[in-house]
Amino acid sequence: MSDLIPEDKINEVRQRASIVEVVSDYVSLKKSGKNFLGLCPFHSERTPSFTVNEEKGIFHCFGCGAGGNVFNFLMRTGQMSFPESVRTVAQRYNVALPTKELSEEEKRRRSLKSKLYEVNETAAEYFHRILTSQREGEEGRKYLAQRGISEETVGEHRLGFAPASWDSLVLFFQKKGVPLNLAETVGLILPRKEGAVAAGRPGYFDRFRRRVIFPIINEGGRVLGFGGRIIVSEEVREGDVPPPKYMNSPESPIYSKGQTLYGLNAAKGFIREKGNALIVEGYMDLLSLYQAGFRNAVASLGTALTYSQLGLLGRYAREAFLVFDGDESGQKATQRSLELFLQEGISARVVSLPSGYDPDSFIRREKGDKFERILAEAPPLVEFLFEQALRRHRADSVEGKVRIVRELIPALSRLQDPLERNLYIERFALRLGLKESQIRDQLRGREPAAAGEEKGAPPAHRGPAHERMLLQLMLLDPLAVSRVREVMGLEGFSDLRHQKLVGRILDLYEKGEEWDPQGFLGRVEEEDLRDLVSELLLEEGSVLDPGRMLEDCLRQVKLFRVRQEIREVDEEIRRRSPQEKNEPWNVPGLKELLKRKQRLIQEQKRWTAEPAGALPPREGERAQG
Ligand code: UTP
Ligand code: MN
Repeated sequence: MSDLIPEDKINEVRQRASIVEVVSDYVSLKKSGKNFLGLCPFHSERTPSFTVNEEKGIFHCFGCGAGGNVFNFLMRTGQMSFPESVRTVAQRYNVALPTKELSEEEKRRRSLKSKLYEVNETAAEYFHRILTSQREGEEGRKYLAQRGISEETVGEHRLGFAPASWDSLVLFFQKKGVPLNLAETVGLILPRKEGAVAAGRPGYFDRFRRRVIFPIINEGGRVLGFGGRIIVSEEVREGDVPPPKYMNSPESPIYSKGQTLYGLNAAKGFIREKGNALIVEGYMDLLSLYQAGFRNAVASLGTALTYSQLGLLGRYAREAFLVFDGDESGQKATQRSLELFLQEGISARVVSLPSGYDPDSFIRREKGDKFERILAEAPPLVEFLFEQALRRHRADSVEGKVRIVRELIPALSRLQDPLERNLYIERFALRLGLKESQIRDQLRGREPAAAGEEKGAPPAHRGPAHERMLLQLMLLDPLAVSRVREVMGLEGFSDLRHQKLVGRILDLYEKGEEWDPQGFLGRVEEEDLRDLVSELLLEEGSVLDPGRMLEDCLRQVKLFRVRQEIREVDEEIRRRSPQEKNEPWNVPGLKELLKRKQRLIQEQKRWTAEPAGALPPREGERAQG
């Protein structure tokens, strides 16, 4: 990402820039203490929580969690890649950047893509203008009005209308000088069959005709492609294939199905703010929800969710509500999505609508508060799978019970949190009239999948407070970094995001470079980590006695971790214990487990006993003593 512009140049640009000035182009800022405050451009809010600190060169919104340096800000406002943001700022502050040669291939690929985005942008504006202000848009306006879509929604989602003609877009492109081969590449127009080209007419025709247009927009605000819905069910002659209700742009260098979520750009701020996302299937579902105030919704566009879509979502949300269509195919698609959620360890809840409803029709008939209630009652994924299995198999027969338990095993074994897993086992055993051990036996040998994010933790969940404080100290002072490394390393942190961040800090520290927190921020590529860093940097209160604070936090974090490990060992012993009480010591590996527990208890004692400022030496040094 930064390989094109040398690191030191990037730093120079960042240091020369005034982040307050740059942000002020987009947000009106007011000075407030050491910071500047304004209304966040990335989510809607009435009281300012968007904070900019000139001295540190960073911004952070305490409402939606977005944060970073001046480049990250420009990237978030859309339309800019990282190098573009660096160049923009460099130009403004007169920093000369070396122009490093791109490979020919790379140049061609980049310029092609940016041209394709432009073509789509032009088309989106064209369709939108027709819908909002032209005579040919009348039937589109009528259709949307009849479906209850407001002008505001039309504006926010940039809806449009493709007129009934065969070549109005082609002609518009010609007038604007848009190369038709590029328009063909993004699938907006198609070549006419030979012989069908009348004299003086262009050799292309419009793909979208007499359809309401839904631009598919990425998180950067770029138009990747389009969906179009038919507005009348035309008379279909017998034997003819009816036109599809929805038509979508074909795959192109800038659009691949299953890699984007419809509505994400409009929803991302709200998703962050709420901590969760609603996932629906269709365009209209999303718009209806959006309009009813459920603005944290995205649409998967009629397919089962894909791995990349989930990854996209994971940048903004840690919990998702999957909104089921009442019909069977909806249920099947959701079923497949569920597997993915299990696999990825993102917690999901399942919202099933009454049969015959989709989110759009439900919201329109039953209104928002009823939908709100359904959301509140939505069962977590595992619970839902259990209910489903109960419906499919007879829980009063041996065979049925076997089937139900077998179906649940993959889901249960993926639960990371032993407590959560145990509670489910307990509950399912009770409801099936089984012994817990009978479910446990099936689970044996199926350890939880690779560690995922903390289960069920919403993004607002900040992780243990002492861990946060330690991180803040580390960001500010390299001495704290070395102390943390010495005492515990990353495993000492229980929050996954914290672990990741500590890993990064240690990497950099080990390279022995000069410690510069703002510079560090610039190197973090993952958005979620960056948000965390900017938050930590801006939040840092006045630390009166950093040395003491450091030791105190270390102790707390260490103790937290040790206690957690003790619980895990206990759980493991319980899990391995045979149910038959006549051979109580026949537990595989029991000796090792007990030894480990002993060690942990010793460690716990040491960390509880020592006064602050006199921490015990590193693990191992005294472990045997
Ligand atoms: P649905 O058939 O459930 O339509 O398809 P819908 O969203 O309820 O649409 P309305 O309410 O009739 O307008 C769900 C999604 O599947 C994709 C579209 O993304 C649609 O929103 N789809 C559906 C297609 O791509 N092509 C089709 O022909 C139908
Ligand atoms: Mn519908």
